[in-house]
Amino acid sequence: MTPSVPVHVREVGRVHHVAVVVRDLEAALAFYRDTLGLAAGPVVPIPSDRVRIAFLPVGEVRIELVEPTDDTTGVARFLANRGEGFHHVCFEVPDISADLVRLAIDGVELIDTAPRPGAEGPVAFLHPRSCHGVLVELIEAPGGPAWASLYPDGFRAPGA
Ligand code: CO
Repeated sequence: MTPSVPVHVREVGRVHHVAVVVRDLEAALAFYRDTLGLAAGPVVPIPSDRVRIAFLPVGEVRIELVEPTDDTTGVARFLANRGEGFHHVCFEVPDISADLVRLAIDGVELIDTAPRPGAEGPVAFLHPRSCHGVLVELIEAPGGPAWASLYPDGFRAPGA
């Protein structure tokens, strides 16, 4: 149907996680974990992004709760302007760098032009303007080429 779709994006493996911005991570965990009954991972500070996060696995997908820790970041402005709620969806792909090149050629506005270290591996964001209003994150599947270049000494999860 759409021959220009990059081959790697056509290979999108799965939804990796769905991220929700929250004002108070502990209060949000009280709902997702205690009321809905989801298992919750640990609360992990990501000082470089000025957020604290927690992942809650649901099948092979995770809910990511994101709490801004100051008001200087894009995610903090999102919370201030729109309130709590859906923030981004993350798709797993085999080769982020190749996808970014092809997506840029196809006119997609990139927030990250190269993979950068995320909480769970190499990630890059696409601008919602190019994604029908949804902030899209790509994460590279373990063993992909960005893992070796970003983590020459091996990957260590933040807080691990
Ligand atoms: Co994410």
